[in-house]
Amino acid sequence: MQKQVELRRGLKDVYLDRTQASFIDGAIGKLLYRGYSIHDLAEKSTFEETVYLLLYGKLPTRSELAVLDKQLKQSRDIPQEVIDILRRQLKAHPMDALRTGVSALAGFDPEVIDNSAEATIRKGIRLTSQSPTVVTTHARLREGKSPIPPRKDLGHAANFLYMLTGKEPDPEEARIMDVDFILHAEHGANASAFAARVTASTLSDLHSAVVTGIGTLKGPLHGGAAEAVMKMAHDIGSPDKAQQYLDKLLSSGGRVMGFGHRVYKAEDPRAQHLRERARGLGEKRGHPEWFQILEAVAKGMERYQSRGIFVNVDFYAGAVYHLLGIPEDIFIPIFAIGRVPGWTLQVVEQFQDNQLIRPLLEYVGPMDVPYVPIDQRH
Ligand code: SDX
Repeated sequence: MQKQVELRRGLKDVYLDRTQASFIDGAIGKLLYRGYSIHDLAEKSTFEETVYLLLYGKLPTRSELAVLDKQLKQSRDIPQEVIDILRRQLKAHPMDALRTGVSALAGFDPEVIDNSAEATIRKGIRLTSQSPTVVTTHARLREGKSPIPPRKDLGHAANFLYMLTGKEPDPEEARIMDVDFILHAEHGANASAFAARVTASTLSDLHSAVVTGIGTLKGPLHGGAAEAVMKMAHDIGSPDKAQQYLDKLLSSGGRVMGFGHRVYKAEDPRAQHLRERARGLGEKRGHPEWFQILEAVAKGMERYQSRGIFVNVDFYAGAVYHLLGIPEDIFIPIFAIGRVPGWTLQVVEQFQDNQLIRPLLEYVGPMDVPYVPIDQRH
């Protein structure tokens, strides 16, 4: 007789371990990175400062930030061999190119098998800087253009947009990208961070864990939502068609991308920091319709709030990226670029007090079946 087991499918509400990376109260929509409110960080900090906070556990002094900023700027180049590998897969989805690029970078990192906290943090800083270069290099090559080398005189977000477009972004647009990276930097045991922890728990290495994270983040139920939101906005076409679209989608059991969350049963506190920026960018660029469509969707989804389904971080992100002129299939890589520091911190935490992550599956198949020689099978 099989013993009774308690299944927790999707590991819903299961606590895996302790962390000092971030605190999430899903009931009230609260998020802290290392104790600091996401609202303070989004509006008063920078991605570089947030990277320091996540990796070292405290806000940096001006001189500490200058040291990190220099490390980040010096790590932006990627080896020619990696560029050549990206040149071999111009038709790949940008997330696949990023996954391949990070995998290839492992072959050129002198500390790849050093799992000490210090080396893991140094590698995480390098990957935080190299990931934008991998993404933009592939984006330029697939358009038949030469990659644009990183600049050392631009901030992380501005340099990403510069390498993607060839133009130095205006400060307001660079700031919007900076805020977006802050909002995506860390978020507890989300599927991709959990996957990265599983990889780290076997004492593999940071590059392998980040490759795992990228592959996991790609799914539309996780990081792929921003791309799916923009596709939804295109399909809807105009604000007055939003309700009809929602009725059709929801009545067939579909999911509205950019809504709902495994943990948040109130509004995702990150969404508000992109909502007004999406509105403002739309008006500035002369395309208010995208924000108007999203607002019509948000209005149509209000009745789902009673079931704990609210807008999440990805809902407005897609409109922001689209209005910044970023191709839709590069939306997910932007999420991944922002999340590298969070994955790095969680891998450091996993290494510090490691337990191999190895859950159980309840077997419900046949038992003790006799083996039949092949000529007696039918
Ligand atoms: C991210 O985990 C993280 O922290 C992730 C993230 C991070 O920073 O790392 O915050 C980033 O991934 C944000 C989420 C992006 N994904 C999407 O926007 C995709 C659309 N969202 C849904 O697929 C869904 O909300 C999930 C996957 C995000 C969460 O789903 P759960 O927790 O597994 O809940 P569920 O699928 O069991 O849904 C519970 C109920 C269901 O209704 P019933 O079957 O019980 O009647 O809520 C409904 C669902 O149908 N529901 C939705 C919905 N989300 C949940 N109905 C319509 N549209 C939705 N978006």
